[in-house]
Amino acid sequence: MVQVAVLGYGTVGSGVVEVLEENKAKITPRAGEELNVKYILDLRDFPGDPYENKVVHDVNVILEDPEVQVVCETMGGVEPAFTFSKKALMAGKSVCTSNKELVAAHGPELLKLAKENKCNYLFEASVGGGIPIIRPMNSALTAEKIESIHGILNGTTNYILTKMDKEGADFEEVLKEAQEKGYAERNPEADVEGYDACRKIAILSSLMTGKSVKYEDIYTEGITKITSVDFKYAKALNKSIKLLAMSKDEGDGYVAMVSPCMISQEHPLFCVSDVFNAVFVHGNMLGDSMYYGRGAGKLATASAVVADVIDCARHLGKTVTCLWDEEVMELKDYMDSAKKFFVRVNNEGMDKAAELFGTFEKVEVVDGEFGFVTEVMTEREFAAKAEKLPEMISRIRVEF
Ligand code: HSE
Repeated sequence: MVQVAVLGYGTVGSGVVEVLEENKAKITPRAGEELNVKYILDLRDFPGDPYENKVVHDVNVILEDPEVQVVCETMGGVEPAFTFSKKALMAGKSVCTSNKELVAAHGPELLKLAKENKCNYLFEASVGGGIPIIRPMNSALTAEKIESIHGILNGTTNYILTKMDKEGADFEEVLKEAQEKGYAERNPEADVEGYDACRKIAILSSLMTGKSVKYEDIYTEGITKITSVDFKYAKALNKSIKLLAMSKDEGDGYVAMVSPCMISQEHPLFCVSDVFNAVFVHGNMLGDSMYYGRGAGKLATASAVVADVIDCARHLGKTVTCLWDEEVMELKDYMDSAKKFFVRVNNEGMDKAAELFGTFEKVEVVDGEFGFVTEVMTEREFAAKAEKLPEMISRIRVEF
């Protein structure tokens, strides 16, 4: 029997216990041994809960129990999760986590500790919730040179943008409704400003390059400035607007970025709606592949954590290879990356826009302004032209 401890009995932690119990008959032969939840760490008590007698308040009870071989860290946040994870790994206990903040900030350090102590640090649930993407990157795609990753990696913002698209509503209105329904946090900053997607693409970029892509180095723009008028233009262009997290090998360097982008209806990411997530990976041999599913939610995320627990049980005393070195990957300046831009301009700026951007196909969906899509140019070239066009209302990158 493999003894498991769960750190944090919140949404994901209680989901882990539920998945282990509900699917026990399937899980035991796959793990090779029965998995038993011995402890649940939480500050709170849970009177009446079927697992109430497993709840402990002192992490040392878990760390000092030699029977515990796998720890699920479902606490979230960097501390105390970082300290607890380090101590567990140093005691030779494998750690499985859904904590993207911690993985993005300290992943390579924790992987190194796991290797030194012949155990594992697994983090499938940290990106895309229940969608298998970390394991494909570490196994099924290891023959590939991955050239680009484009992801819809945040369920909250995808839900908001989908509603804005379908209902013609404005951001603030949809955010309020999403908060009322529990799809958005009361403090939605991490989601709507793109910080959550940034951590997730930092993790994927690190696995793509084998080095440490620091989330602090990734240019990040959220969805708060997207309006219902932007969606009218997107529709007229047969496109939609999604918060895209991307990482690309541009030949002369890697560029990573999070920003709202217009994507055309021919692209597979166009159909990824509501709280769903998807990761679109381009490899030099395989070509395109896409991983799609529930990017958040109790049981979907817990399922990915439990799959990691099973992997740990299958590899007791051995470390599963994960190439993510501590060496920092210097990213190419995003200002030197090139793409098309969709631009909205007041009618007074018509002549100047033509002078700066050359001929373009004008799109008109509301009075007093027009929109158009530029030719491919670098961010720097675009910024220089935009500076000379005070009549410009806004711009959205065009990715596909
Ligand atoms: N807030 C995140 C989302 C949860 O909306 O996708 C999963 O990481």
